[in-house]
Amino acid sequence: MALSHVYGRSDPSDALRTVNHAIDVGVTFIDTADVYGEPRPGSDGPAGTNEELIAEVLRHRRDEVQLATKFGITGRIGADTGGTSIRGDRDYVRSACEASLRRLGTDVIDLYYMHRRELDRPIEETVGAMAELVREGKIRHVGLSEVTGTELRLAAAVHPVAAVQSEWSIWSRDVERHVVPAAIEVGAGFVPYSPLGRGFLTGTLTRASVANSIRSGQPRFDQNFEANHAVVELVRSIAGEINATPAQTALAWLYSRGTRLGLPVVPIPGTRHAARVDENADSLTVALTNEQLTRLDSAVWLVMGDRNLTFNRPQWISAGRE
Ligand SMILES: NC(=O)c1ccc[n+]([C@@H]2O[C@H](COP(=O)([O-])OP(=O)(O)OC[C@H]3O[C@@H](n4cnc5c(N)ncnc54)[C@H](OP(=O)(O)O)[C@@H]3O)[C@@H](O)[C@H]2O)c1
Repeated sequence: MALSHVYGRSDPSDALRTVNHAIDVGVTFIDTADVYGEPRPGSDGPAGTNEELIAEVLRHRRDEVQLATKFGITGRIGADTGGTSIRGDRDYVRSACEASLRRLGTDVIDLYYMHRRELDRPIEETVGAMAELVREGKIRHVGLSEVTGTELRLAAAVHPVAAVQSEWSIWSRDVERHVVPAAIEVGAGFVPYSPLGRGFLTGTLTRASVANSIRSGQPRFDQNFEANHAVVELVRSIAGEINATPAQTALAWLYSRGTRLGLPVVPIPGTRHAARVDENADSLTVALTNEQLTRLDSAVWLVMGDRNLTFNRPQWISAGRE
């Protein structure tokens, strides 16, 4: 998602270089969605352009990666309220999957996510349609994004759920209340998205970089931007103690939090820059003491403003429906 459009532009050839570099250094998990990428002029459906970009890499390297994509958001993400329309009916799931397979140039998706739940539709119908796709060999595993604990249990009764993808980081911890315990219960792994707090936890964002992106107007980045630097200062001070960067410290905290809870976690940081891919991958070598983990745990009390990007619709994320 961060390769194109939402946090600032990038040149497609630079983006391709970054993804290829990530695979070169051992990254094996690619996360995209039908709705990611720059929308085509005149189109108001899922852009599909990020999947097409990823297809360029897959053409030569399909066997080197686990490929995840998502369906369900029918508009242009972040562009307007139209971006928050959702569909989860069987016909839509099937046609969205065919469209993603075509754009990605592959005959199977390793992990297919429901990106958002259509609130008036039983989740069993949507997951039932995904189960059909597994039986037909079009997808290998079922994933769910931004589901509540209750929704996850209902879904897992229809078909095993391999992974839950929701926002989780040092400053976004609401999933630990209901979603994480449900994931442990049903045996799903966790894929924390925005593990760097959409870049905020790295301490590199400025007011100008926020203004020109999807972060603009969101409570944590707008009126609370300065106050939330208390969180960055805490992360930065612990990073200094262990000779790591703030980004590496934030990622190491997530691995450790998953381990402490008994849950496999695979954070998916996004970046347009090859050097930052290396920096983020090196977080695997960063160790935090129990005392440092406890101090990082306390950062959540410093956060001002609700979890971001709900487009003024709290139900858009799991916490708004719990
Ligand atoms: N399921 C969902 O609803 C959902 C929602 C959001 C995201 N996602 C997925 O999660 C992925 C990651 O989320 P995200 O991009 O929102 O958030 P993120 O990984 O927390 O942050 C990305 C931002 O951090 C910056 N960054 C990355 N590494 C850095 C480093 N080492 N030092 C300084 N800055 C760094 C990037 O800027 P540069 O590009 O300039 O490096 C980018 O602006 C997305 O690509 C998408 O696949 C899923």
